[in-house]
Amino acid sequence: MYQVIARKYRPQTFAGLIGQEHVRTTLGNAISQGRIAHGYIFSGQRGTGKTTVARILARCLNCEKGPAAEPCTECVACREIASGGCVDVIEIDAASNRGINEMRELRENVRYRPARDRYKVFIIDEAHQITSEAFNALLKTLEEPPEWVVFVLCTTEAHKIPHTISSRCQQFSFRSVDFTEVVSRMEWICGEEGIKADAETLAVLAQAGDGSVRDSLSALDQAIACCGAELDAGEVRRLLGLFSLDTLGEVTRALEAADSRRLLEIVQELESNGHNLQHFCRELARFFRNLLVTKIAGSGSRLVAASAGELVRLADTAGKFSEPDLTRYLQLTLELYRELQYSLQPRLHMELGLLRLLHAGRIRSIEDLLAGLPSGQPPPPAPPSSRGTPPKPAPVVESKPASAGQPGSLKQRLQASLAETGLTFVADAVEHAEVTESPSQITFTAPKEFLMALRSADLRTAVTKTAGRAVKIVVQAGEAAAAAAAPKPAAAAMAEDEELSRRALSHPEVLHFQEMFPGSQVRTVRNLKQ
Ligand SMILES: Nc1ncnc2c1ncn2[C@@H]1O[C@H](COP(=O)(O)OP(=O)(O)OP(=O)(O)O)[C@@H](O)[C@H]1O
Ligand SMILES: [Mg+2]
Ligand SMILES: [Zn+2]
Repeated sequence: MYQVIARKYRPQTFAGLIGQEHVRTTLGNAISQGRIAHGYIFSGQRGTGKTTVARILARCLNCEKGPAAEPCTECVACREIASGGCVDVIEIDAASNRGINEMRELRENVRYRPARDRYKVFIIDEAHQITSEAFNALLKTLEEPPEWVVFVLCTTEAHKIPHTISSRCQQFSFRSVDFTEVVSRMEWICGEEGIKADAETLAVLAQAGDGSVRDSLSALDQAIACCGAELDAGEVRRLLGLFSLDTLGEVTRALEAADSRRLLEIVQELESNGHNLQHFCRELARFFRNLLVTKIAGSGSRLVAASAGELVRLADTAGKFSEPDLTRYLQLTLELYRELQYSLQPRLHMELGLLRLLHAGRIRSIEDLLAGLPSGQPPPPAPPSSRGTPPKPAPVVESKPASAGQPGSLKQRLQASLAETGLTFVADAVEHAEVTESPSQITFTAPKEFLMALRSADLRTAVTKTAGRAVKIVVQAGEAAAAAAAPKPAAAAMAEDEELSRRALSHPEVLHFQEMFPGSQVRTVRNLKQ
């Protein structure tokens, strides 16, 4: 009978386990020292070894040569537990009906001594699904456990275990297993099975599991079923709906070249090749995440699950973008992914989403600009984050309100556009509003009396016309022109303020800043000492 790889290669000893070192050593020590608890909670990501370790623990406790930190694997107890045929090791699946019935019998069952072995071990899988009735039964037992009883509660959702139970148990959290360990484990399994798989293919399979050993092994099963004894990375990717760095790199190359047309073509190609756009978006998010981590932590980082060849290419691509760029790309791609989940028009969302990446990349952070300002020298050339020649000029400064009086500022352009179409009262209201812009929305903050005039439909039309893109419009009440509301200072203070302003405005750094933003105006000078 064919046995799936994950089952066939379930580790039989702690030595055969990959990852989870903390669980291994702590449990091993406890058994050697005879300090065995009556309740254990194994929690953590699926497919990382919870049930496996529960069974190994049962064998350690009941092995004829034990209790020992490793089972002998050969005695009757060890063999029976491995095959699931041991009467003293009871596995209950709390997710199935059968589980609930068995939980009802549990209180009865625990009162009797083990039939043959030292301990009666109850392994409760999906323990968070136990009914409250069953939890109560369990609690009574844990309060006064017979010496021979050991419970192991396995769950992916530890927070759903009532505190009354968890406080009486030792808890172990199982971590997702390192990429490299999963790769070498699969390499070994492929060797045993006579399957040919190169490093790239193994990397694809390990990535598909996302830290879950079982998921990676299931992907391997699927790949063998599809490709036979010789696995091909491209085919396996297609099978699993994953994308190569080549394909994902198309997007970064287009961003680098500020080529919006190419971005639209990419969507077209994905569609015509029958790819799922949401899958692509998810992979793109992972790609940006890996680029960002590579940028921050360096290319040797264990935080990136990728083969050696892929790491080199990631580092190369990451070098072409700034950290804030990559952060924005990741954020926008995640937003896009969420949108795609509910979208009836995935293609349009995808196109808009990719174009948004391109526009967002041109935003320069004010910190970047200030950092590049040497005193008394002409402003430095544009930082690498503004690549290519943007079809629309006027860089937008992030996290700064579009300066009110700046000719050609978004606010002014909006006012002009509104006035042009005869909506002078809307233009007037915009005059009194503070206009702030972010990649995905424009916010108008104005005193209450102007809110009526700030109709989002009009604003949206004007924004689409002047900014050349559709973004969310938010209109909110608030103080816009702070200066107007401020109380008039006394004459002396005013003179002093004027002198300070004059000095501030003639400061070389301020002058340089104004050079970088032609036409910008300083709205207020604040005395930080006050
Ligand atoms: N740490 C590990 N080392 C080696 N193999 C592992 C490990 N974790 C999981 N596996 C493989 O995955 C299979 C499933 O593991 P296991 O049943 O222990 O996962 P689990 O954590 O109980 O998952 P679930 O939460 O879905 O029940 C095992 O048979 C084994 O092949
Ligand atoms: Mg399990
Ligand atoms: Zn044994």
